[in-house]
Amino acid sequence: MTGAAGYDATHAAWRRDPEAWWAAAARGITWDTLPTRSFDAGMGVYGRWFPDGRLNTCFNAVDRHVAAGRGAQAAIIWDSPMTGRIETITYADLLDRVGRLAGALAARGVGQGDRVIVYMPMVPEAAIAMLACARLGAVHSVVFGGFAAAELATRIADAKPKAIVTASCGLEPGRIVKYKPLIDAAIGLSPHKPGAVLILQRPECPCDLTPGRDADLLAAMADATPHPCVSVAATDPLYILYTSGTTGAPKGILRDNGGHAVALHQSMSMVYGVGPGDVYWAASDVGWVVGHSYIVYAPLLAGCTTVLFEGKPVGTPDAGTFWRVCEQHGVKVLFTAPTAIRAIKKEDPEGVLLKRHDLSKLEALYLAGERCDPDTVTWSERLLGKPVVDHWWQTETGWTITGNFRGLGLFPTRPGSGGKPAPGYDVVVLDEANRDVPAGQIGSLAVRLPLPPSALPTLFNADDRFREAYLTAFPGYYSTADAGMIDEDGYVWVMSRTDDIINVAGHRLSTGAMEEVLASHPDVAECAVVGVRDTLKGQVPLGLVVLKHGVAKAEADIARDLVAMVRDRIGPVAAFKEARVVARLPKTRSGKILRATLRKIADGDDFVVPPTIDDPAIIEEVGAVLKGAMR
Ligand code: COA
Ligand code: AMP
Repeated sequence: MTGAAGYDATHAAWRRDPEAWWAAAARGITWDTLPTRSFDAGMGVYGRWFPDGRLNTCFNAVDRHVAAGRGAQAAIIWDSPMTGRIETITYADLLDRVGRLAGALAARGVGQGDRVIVYMPMVPEAAIAMLACARLGAVHSVVFGGFAAAELATRIADAKPKAIVTASCGLEPGRIVKYKPLIDAAIGLSPHKPGAVLILQRPECPCDLTPGRDADLLAAMADATPHPCVSVAATDPLYILYTSGTTGAPKGILRDNGGHAVALHQSMSMVYGVGPGDVYWAASDVGWVVGHSYIVYAPLLAGCTTVLFEGKPVGTPDAGTFWRVCEQHGVKVLFTAPTAIRAIKKEDPEGVLLKRHDLSKLEALYLAGERCDPDTVTWSERLLGKPVVDHWWQTETGWTITGNFRGLGLFPTRPGSGGKPAPGYDVVVLDEANRDVPAGQIGSLAVRLPLPPSALPTLFNADDRFREAYLTAFPGYYSTADAGMIDEDGYVWVMSRTDDIINVAGHRLSTGAMEEVLASHPDVAECAVVGVRDTLKGQVPLGLVVLKHGVAKAEADIARDLVAMVRDRIGPVAAFKEARVVARLPKTRSGKILRATLRKIADGDDFVVPPTIDDPAIIEEVGAVLKGAMR
């Protein structure tokens, strides 16, 4: 069976008996103790997958491929236009390097359940550090390199790591990002102080080591005794990935070992249609969930070759780089964010650079991370002549909620829709009273509990926050905080977030966190940050501030301060470049700022003035200030 029939049959088989379906998927994993049950509804907040199974994720991602005689196969191809280097790491090499780093961490007191922060650019050692933690049963927490010291400090304070693995620098076009001062500042700010910091010295900008705390990563690995895999419970944590929440405090999304390994291994064949030996490339960053799942874990669990790319879609050196990488390494499936394709499309609209490359091995392009405009799908489909699949997911789930499934046979795509629910997900659209919304009408997208394997079982050390944030709005369901609809043929259309999260170039950011920064300026009385439509990045943040009475400082200077403060406290990745002063902010009579209305004004969209507005005259005032904000 192929196409819609293949998908329908598989989704129906999962629905008939989810536990048997997942038990079959679990056979793709090598267990130390095979689980006797797929799911225990009484365990944890809403149940736990594979409650009595034991395994090691690193063993499944590395050792077992070497044991099966595939040690000479490439596991990781590091392609770095930033440094001009390309390095191939075989599974046998990877096993040696991961075992040594695990040994080096163990020698510094890291053991099962201990946390390790990984703050790394896109170098192989980032993946090696993650796998080394998994090998020890330690819990890694990767922090994206574009976050500032204060954000890193929040994560150190919450995760309380025994060690940090980092590099001397990251490389951005035209600028070297020195990590050591950021690490020192973050450790200084955090009440918790990790005992050890292992630093990869990059030749582009080596750093001084702090005696008694820091060690050279490669020297520590060379000195270490390789550490064997530690058997852990399927329900033990593999990693914490902090993501923006609705308040400034980031949420520690927790991932377990067993469910994660089963779902990710299964997804490689079912969703992407790739298997052992195939070259798979997720052009993302290890700091994001896509990087965790599809640069590191899933391709390695499936025995693929994964491409780890240190560069940008444009400017390193040009908009043909993605296609050069696909040709040079024989990439079969490419996964990236719509922003990356929009950036390429802008510089190479007719595909002149694309056509210079032999893309005969490339079979499909998958997109996720933000809503994809139909034009980007049709443009890439036309030029590539291959299927382009938009699929919807979240840091919380770790793999796709909806999509189109090469392993089941693709059904026709509908540009603008994220496809149909993956087997494992019962996706519904609900209204505020928890009632099903008819097909074609917009409501809140929710998933009937339990969530499938790999989705978060809870938040790190915060069961109550997990219940409150995700399970309370719609009892019996996981609230995705996305609004959208399901059409009559079952395609899911994800339209917008229902909270204060915005997606800037596929990066998930909280406007609430930015508002906290703006509000701390001594001249600001109140503020709002909204995501304004941007033709390249999807959305960019725009700050609106009301100044305190009697402020003498020039508005332009205050705006400059605010931009610098967000860059300094959250990081350059927030792409906060604009703040405007307004006399008042539109509010409801109860004092709630009308952010959705502000966004529509800035975007030039039609809107209805909410009947609850305090003073309708403000709309015109703010409109005059916002004119031209949209790109
Ligand atoms: N370390 C330090 N700084 C970083 C960084 C990192 N890892 N990643 C980004 N930054 C900085 C950039 O240098 C930039 O700084 P600047 O303000 O000094 O120019 C800022 O953060 C914003 O970065 P970005 O949003 O990446 O914008 P850009 O203009 O540099 O590049 C694109 C535009 C489209 C090329 C880029 O956004 C992109 O590749 N997007 C795809 C995103 C993606 O893969 N997302 C993953 C989800 S699947
Ligand atoms: P992140 O956790 O960074 O992966 O961001 C998750 C959010 O990005 C989702 O809640 C959506 O708002 C948005 N998102 C991700 N993929 C898609 C998609 N394919 N279509 C629409 N929105 C998406």
